[in-house]
Amino acid sequence: MLKHTRLSDPELYRLVGEELDRQEHNIEMIASESTESEEVLELSGCVFANKTTEGYPGARFQAGSQVADKMERLGIERAKALFEADHANLQPYSGSTANYGVYAAVLKPGDVVLGMRLDHGGHLTHGSPANFMSKFYDFVSYGLNRETELIDYEELERLARERRPKLIIAGGSAYPRLIDYERAAKIAHSAGGLLMADMAHVAGLVAAKVIPSPVPHADFVTFSTTKTFCGPRGGMILCKAPHARALDRGVFPGAISSIHLNIMAAKVWCLKNAASPSFKATMEQVLKNAAALAEELTRHGFRVIGGGTDNHIVLLDLRSKKITGKLFQDALEYVGITINKNMIPFDSEKPLITSGVRIGTTSVSQRGMKEPEISRIAWIMNRVAAAPEDKGNLEDCKAEALKLIAQFPLYPRGPLE
Ligand SMILES: Cc1ncc(COP(=O)(O)O)c(C=O)c1O
Repeated sequence: MLKHTRLSDPELYRLVGEELDRQEHNIEMIASESTESEEVLELSGCVFANKTTEGYPGARFQAGSQVADKMERLGIERAKALFEADHANLQPYSGSTANYGVYAAVLKPGDVVLGMRLDHGGHLTHGSPANFMSKFYDFVSYGLNRETELIDYEELERLARERRPKLIIAGGSAYPRLIDYERAAKIAHSAGGLLMADMAHVAGLVAAKVIPSPVPHADFVTFSTTKTFCGPRGGMILCKAPHARALDRGVFPGAISSIHLNIMAAKVWCLKNAASPSFKATMEQVLKNAAALAEELTRHGFRVIGGGTDNHIVLLDLRSKKITGKLFQDALEYVGITINKNMIPFDSEKPLITSGVRIGTTSVSQRGMKEPEISRIAWIMNRVAAAPEDKGNLEDCKAEALKLIAQFPLYPRGPLE
């Protein structure tokens, strides 16, 4: 695949090889990750990368855009059919840019926006003071109920009544349960606002129809095309017909300029792939594997936040094991299982330490792992948690993890070169 780079820049070529080797021999369980297919890798580097174009099909700012027009129209039609949406915009560079596109479409500086707290599972772009959007809009946070660890819809309703937000954002980075989009939409609309569902994490599960879709309820739906959608590093937006024009203007010229047409080509391939029976089967297995992981880890004495999972995410509270998220993440990394430390709701630890970890099952499911392998992974995790600083224990666990992952090649159709 990198036959030219191999000759012109052997140093960089070796680094790509090193990363491929790391991925091949690690059990990747970062919830936002998935494995890009060979087609996605090919298309991400195809000649559409040479073309500069801005605007929309039939109304471009640059000449020579006829083929780009055909490709973008094909993608829009595929996205509308796949998600049963009135309108689709494939131009955002990422999930974050997709959110900025919606903000540009509907918000004015100072408008009130309700988003889920970052430390309760929301996202940086939903109003974190660390994100520059918080300088322009008046973000107000809602969170989870302390007992159920589910979205506190009563609090959301109360805040909406009091603050009359222009936009409510429903969706998160570390929320393992289903979201009641219908209820969120009713809350937004009765306060005179709009609902934006950010399904960055669960877009693949929604596309495969294995979890409920926000599309019938939300005015806007944004997502990353990585994560469960298993595509290139990009973003996409769906919306209801009355918002189509405003959305397109919000994305271009509001939030981006020239389109990454090569990445768009990879998205267009994914929109076909996501309608296939094999993608549906993978997404079904992602859910089964996450449920099995939650169950097995509970059996080993871990506490699963929210009482379980309805998607690809398992969020663990490690306090019952008397270890921090950082220690567990580092010990598992040594062993060859890649996860990330994560704040849990009402966490008393600092963000760089945390009391929890977030684990995802997309990549392992793509590699063909099923419940028996998940049970083995949970067993290794429990052993690591029992003695995370014992070198001998970690070496034994590493050998187990390596033996397991060796049976499931990253690219089973043949090695990448
Ligand atoms: C809920 C949510 N929205 C948006 C994003 C941003 O997506 P991207 O990394 O594609 O910009 C993420 C990424 O983790 C996310 O979890």
